[in-house]
Amino acid sequence: MRRTMLFKSFLKSGYGPLLSKICRLTTSSNFYGLEAPQTSENATPTTTPKTGILMLNMGGPRTLDEVHDFLLRLFKDRDIIQLPVQDYMGPWIAKRRTPSIQEKYDEIGGGSPIFKWTDIQGKLLCERLDAQCPESAPHKHYIGFRYAHPLTEDTLQQMEDDGVENCIAFSQYPQYSCSTTGSSMNAIHQFYAKRSEESRMNWSVIDRWCTNSFLVKCFAENIQKELDQFPKEKQKDVFILFSAHSLPLRQVNRGDPYSAEVGATVQLVMEQLGFSNPYRLVWQSKVGPLPWLSPATDEAIKGLVQRGRRNMILVPIAFTSDHIETLHELDIEYAKDIGEEVGAECIRRCASPNDHPHFIEALVDVVSSHLNTSHRCSEQFLHNCPLCVNPSCFASKKWFRYMTKKF
Ligand code: FES
Repeated sequence: MRRTMLFKSFLKSGYGPLLSKICRLTTSSNFYGLEAPQTSENATPTTTPKTGILMLNMGGPRTLDEVHDFLLRLFKDRDIIQLPVQDYMGPWIAKRRTPSIQEKYDEIGGGSPIFKWTDIQGKLLCERLDAQCPESAPHKHYIGFRYAHPLTEDTLQQMEDDGVENCIAFSQYPQYSCSTTGSSMNAIHQFYAKRSEESRMNWSVIDRWCTNSFLVKCFAENIQKELDQFPKEKQKDVFILFSAHSLPLRQVNRGDPYSAEVGATVQLVMEQLGFSNPYRLVWQSKVGPLPWLSPATDEAIKGLVQRGRRNMILVPIAFTSDHIETLHELDIEYAKDIGEEVGAECIRRCASPNDHPHFIEALVDVVSSHLNTSHRCSEQFLHNCPLCVNPSCFASKKWFRYMTKKF
């Protein structure tokens, strides 16, 4: 079968495979056979990566001192939250909330593990890609966080400086929302809009992968592991609560696809489990007084216990790594505190994908399939929500259309 490779122009020269092999040899070891030292975050590589995998996510503060700036960036981002007089309200809310959020990070070990997990995932992904896709090797992962270091804009500069030839903007949110993946993509466009120089990289985009079969298997296996911890006679009655970050209804009503895509993942995971247990999709982490997607996870737990369902599993279905919403909100505030308050018998939390082999397989499958098609970007991503009113979305999609279709 003839493979339609994404980066045809380089391959046509005939030097692609040979150079890739040379690059891989020099990346993995030096001429004395010693392993190359591990580099720090997004550090300049010893050889030029042919393909940079830009892993996009929200990020999280790694220390308590980083909490304020993390919140400041978050509350100033109009793609994720719209406030009146945002330039004043955003910093004010960030300052006000810093001490209580610092307390929560303190309770989970002093910081977010999201960088650690993304780095591990990226390294494992690129090792596999180098072996499986020599035409686009060497691959290097870069981390671009929206609200914490390494920030997307700094990483883009690093990639340009490293001379990366092809950039795959790879959203680490399997389900697309304009407030998460959309915000990261807008940040990429804003970086280049401020530069006088055009990007030298060939761009392509992976914007969603909520139905990937390995991702589904990973969730199903992790859920089964938790189900097996319940006494045999109770297993059938355990209620599975899939919990995803909520979204303001105002945004959903503009046509944001997030809730539908989370539902698609849930459906496939339950199919994989043979619809063995009762389940519902619920929503966590609402902030402010406006209406958001519901039922809220904490309300659902209370409601189930009141109705006699005292055993349940919480499944963080839209998070690929542990962070404060799993380690604090689900584990401490819901499973422990609310569980005790309402008299639940047992509330377990399903592990996040982190470095689960099926999850790494999912990343490899998504990227290698992307490399093997001529689609540089999905049509779904290039079109605005039907009722979008955000000028950043229009400008960013126009830029991506240009950057991904011009070659
Ligand atoms: Fe969805 Fe702008 S809000 S594209």
